[in-house]
Amino acid sequence: MISQASIQEVSERLDAVSVVSDYVRLEKRGSRYVGLCPFHQEKTPSFSVNQEHKLYYCFGCGKGGSIINFVMEMEKTTFPETIELLAKRFGVQLRYEKAQIEKEKDTRLEALNELYRRVAGSFHSILTEKSLGNAALHYLTERGIRRDIIDRFQLGFAPANRFWLYDFLLKKGYSPEFLAVSGLFSKQHPRLSLFSGRIIFPITDRQGQPVAFGGRILGDGEPKYINSGDSERYKKGLLLFGIDKAQPALRATKEAVLVEGYMDLIALHQSGVSNAVAPLGTAFTDEQAKLLRRWVERVYLYFDSDTAGQKATIKAIFTCRKNALASAIINTDKNFKDPAEILQKMGEKYLHEATKSYIFGFNYLMSYAQSLYSFNTAEGKYQSVAFLFPYVDILDSDIARETALDMIAKEFVLDPKAVRFDYRRFNSSSAAGLDTPRRKEDKTCDDKSLLIAVAINQGWYEQFRVLVSIQEVEDPVAKEIFVALEECFKYGETGLDAVLARISSQEVREQVLKRGSSKEFSINTEVFIIDGINKFKQRQLKRRKNEIMRELATTYKKKSSDYRSIDDLIMEKMHIDAELRSLSSQKDT
Ligand code: GTP
Ligand code: MN
Repeated sequence: MISQASIQEVSERLDAVSVVSDYVRLEKRGSRYVGLCPFHQEKTPSFSVNQEHKLYYCFGCGKGGSIINFVMEMEKTTFPETIELLAKRFGVQLRYEKAQIEKEKDTRLEALNELYRRVAGSFHSILTEKSLGNAALHYLTERGIRRDIIDRFQLGFAPANRFWLYDFLLKKGYSPEFLAVSGLFSKQHPRLSLFSGRIIFPITDRQGQPVAFGGRILGDGEPKYINSGDSERYKKGLLLFGIDKAQPALRATKEAVLVEGYMDLIALHQSGVSNAVAPLGTAFTDEQAKLLRRWVERVYLYFDSDTAGQKATIKAIFTCRKNALASAIINTDKNFKDPAEILQKMGEKYLHEATKSYIFGFNYLMSYAQSLYSFNTAEGKYQSVAFLFPYVDILDSDIARETALDMIAKEFVLDPKAVRFDYRRFNSSSAAGLDTPRRKEDKTCDDKSLLIAVAINQGWYEQFRVLVSIQEVEDPVAKEIFVALEECFKYGETGLDAVLARISSQEVREQVLKRGSSKEFSINTEVFIIDGINKFKQRQLKRRKNEIMRELATTYKKKSSDYRSIDDLIMEKMHIDAELRSLSSQKDT
């Protein structure tokens, strides 16, 4: 970048009037120079240049600033380009240098890189050469990890003594101040290593430089993994574990295999699946997908075989699609927890073969959708199909969307026209629907009105009580009516009088009578009640959705290791969204 001194020199040397005169005809008026403003249309000059302070200002349109700014506007150049232009014109020899701040950053980062390389090397030699590392080496061997792979990934072991690393590094001449900002030690107790008694997985950037560590406990225990926090050089959601080793294979095959854990990744590389990568203790992010998109067209998802893995798979299918990556799902074998376990129990060949059996993302999504809802009812069928619509939405061409809708029709044995019709309606209701409530309906559809409507049409109550529970009702008047209705139902009493007799508040009784006898409920009660229940459910779902969003926000902030529960929340939100859409489209029928 151009040195600050050079910039200073350019702005001192430049002649404001002669620069501006290249673009505007200026006339001297008193101490000022004026002309017709180049930024707006005018007949009398209101544009002025201050020669002494090297400023311009238009009294007509209010535009103004330094002369350097003026040239940037006129030439559409960047700041450095403009400085270069003016330097040439006024004969200034520019000097270039790195900003002090950048230079300091470079030195700091290089020092950290050096430290991390050294620490990774030390942990590695403890694992492979020292007796301190025997148990850990034995553990890895038991899990079927080969020695050359341990070297290739520079796996290590951090001694159980939590002071070991600090003392070791101090002896090597690192300062306490530097170690304090290294990200290797506890913030509260600067001498305590974050990693102790753990197998170390160095996390490397694309160039293979270690930038963080993951540490696994030996055997069982909590927490299973400890990972470095985010730092200047390392942001979890941006990097993929194994990316440096996988890169050549990613380029060559244009495909990636995505696994959940460090151990899974290592198992796959050992088995010759060298285009495997893993997110780092988070769900697969958009940024990670974009990173892969540079080299690959398709991602094979090979997650744990449990339900958490299944949910993460669904999420990853969407993330892939959104980022223009095709996805396929490698068939998991429920007899094994994850790829690492397959390596341990069945060996490399078997694991390698296992990665060859897969189904395409959309087919996986369709069978998942079918498993969510009862397939015997039209409602269940609709919800399964509606679950798929958001995916159809993010496909990037009409042809792809049409094809997907046809596939849905075939899979669910439905008329393709019906699927298209519902898809369109789903889209228009989710785009325009929720934010523009119809005022007339909303006024009459509060909890109280709904309960009054049910009270005067008690035939509905039996169905109503199945769909809505008392705890969900907030309005106290509505609650009281609800309780009365429930008591009547339990004791087999019928008729409005029986309900009124069980309401203790005079005021509430009056309200029921008054509104019950108005025209409001006499026509189309059925529509009113169905619609009311529908709206009631929507309110509940929206409330829960807001809770989820808040929970997600705080979970993210806490940087909790509880990333599995984040996935659960996201999944629940997806289901709520699907249900909300299905509810709001029923309303239109
Ligand atoms: P093994 O159980 O040894 O096979 O490890 P794994 O790599 O298969 O781990 P698992 O499937 O349990 O979790 C997948 C990934 O999530 C791990 O590789 C870690 O990156 C991350 N992870 C798992 N447990 C924890 C934890 O307790 N804390 C944190 N921060 N991350 C975890
Ligand atoms: Mn696992």
